[in-house]
Amino acid sequence: MKILSIETSCDETSVAVTENGRRVLSNVTASQIEEHKLYGGVVPEIASRRHCESIVSVTDEALRQAGIELTDIDAVAVTYAPGLIGALLVGVNFAKGVALACGKPLIPVHHIRGHIAANYIEFPELEPPFLALVVSGGHTSIIEVRDYTEFNVIGSTLDDAAGEAFDKAARAMGFPYPGGLYIDKASKNGDTSKYKLPYPKTENEYDFSFSGLKTAVINLIHNSAQKNEELDINSLAACFQNTVCEILVDKTIKAAEKFGHKKIALSGGVAANSGLRDMLNERCSDVGIDLYIPPISLCGDNAAMIGCQGFYEYRAGNVAGSDLNAYATKVI
Ligand code: KG4
Ligand code: ZN
Repeated sequence: MKILSIETSCDETSVAVTENGRRVLSNVTASQIEEHKLYGGVVPEIASRRHCESIVSVTDEALRQAGIELTDIDAVAVTYAPGLIGALLVGVNFAKGVALACGKPLIPVHHIRGHIAANYIEFPELEPPFLALVVSGGHTSIIEVRDYTEFNVIGSTLDDAAGEAFDKAARAMGFPYPGGLYIDKASKNGDTSKYKLPYPKTENEYDFSFSGLKTAVINLIHNSAQKNEELDINSLAACFQNTVCEILVDKTIKAAEKFGHKKIALSGGVAANSGLRDMLNERCSDVGIDLYIPPISLCGDNAAMIGCQGFYEYRAGNVAGSDLNAYATKVI
């Protein structure tokens, strides 16, 4: 079954062709990052307009790279939630048009389900049940993947998502948007014991709270500026990254042990973080848990992961009518 999939939930216009869920025939992404960088973050209206401009050419290129015609596809999958509403609406309406024109089914895909499915592409042997840690710019959750379309959220962020905290802390450190990658790079030359940062407590031990940590970084920067003290940005980046990673890894391992999971799958844009990949890898091997991490190319937003999850949604009978809507927020 060949699925044409469309992802426009934030600032990447991405279209892919996948076969039977796990085989990627093409995965084409037009990133808007350079434009949003000028404003220090994603400007929703600009994101919608750029999706509108590039969706047709990105689709043409995805079909060309897959070596197929539009008439060869069996279904259209699209991210319908959660994300920037104007951005989502571009993808949803375009997908409806394609499905209608081709007379093929339309499959709605939840963005976070898609991130988790990135692991199926890389690891053909991976099947539910397993525990997922999803860390992106908009989401941070520990989720039990009971089946391909059955999920149980164990913990989520109460305020900033991990990627959001990375980006805000990076901005205060003087790095461009999106700052996660810059913190990752700077950390390699920093000392993780130089600055003391708080380890936030949450009522549900599997929930996350990163805003206090972000504020602590901002305060540290302001205080040293007031005292005219020089700050070691590499070490501050290393301390911040290390603390975020410790929180993510501690809670995920605890959840795996408590809920009896022997497999953990990491996903989302922050899964590209080298510190997180290394720390989770080390801790998982210490306690005998199999760890799955997608390649960097499948960590950020892309349509291949949507096509992969779309296949399993279709198999479960989750097909949308022509009245499909987009939602800025929606539980998984
Ligand atoms: O999944 P994603 O592409 O978009 C959302 O669905 O939100 O994630 C984007 C986030 C941004 O916050 C970005 O800074 C972060 O992923 N990110 C990183 C790294 N690469 C991307 N964060 C930390 N370290 C990285 N290497
Ligand atoms: Zn995402």
